[in-house]
Amino acid sequence: MKKINLIILTAFIAFSISSCSTATIEEVVITEIITFDDDVSVIISNNCLSCHSGTFASAGLNLDGYSNVRNATENGNLLTRINSVSNPMPQGGQMPPALIATIEQWAIDGYIEN
Ligand code: HEC
Repeated sequence: MKKINLIILTAFIAFSISSCSTATIEEVVITEIITFDDDVSVIISNNCLSCHSGTFASAGLNLDGYSNVRNATENGNLLTRINSVSNPMPQGGQMPPALIATIEQWAIDGYIEN
């Protein structure tokens, strides 16, 4: 496969509220092509499939397999929800920035399967 290096900077802003407000900006640099089989699949398996698979998938959203995840990312609100601070997916709290950035880069690269 042709190897192209991309450098993408993604800024993530997390606010924490204490006696005063502080903001932390974390940058994630991705220099490799992201594919579903190598990179995205394991993130979805570890963080989403416990709820989003099978007959009783939460919100009727099945994230098992390439085409389901691609559809939720390309045509649905998956990217919005994994980036949401107030209403994140997974429900327990946002994934680490590097994992969110990996899925975003996969979308930018055009949903490469393998
Ligand atoms: C502990 C169970 C659980 C986990 C883990 C989980 N979800 Fe969800 N998800 C839900 C539930 C319940 C809903 C419906 C309620 C809501 O929208 O908040 C939902 C809704 C969603 C929606 C909105 C669907 C719609 O039609 O509006 C998206 C997108 C989503 N989840 C993506 C993900 C992704 C991606 C992951 C992993 C990174 C994930 N979820 C992990 C339980 C979960």
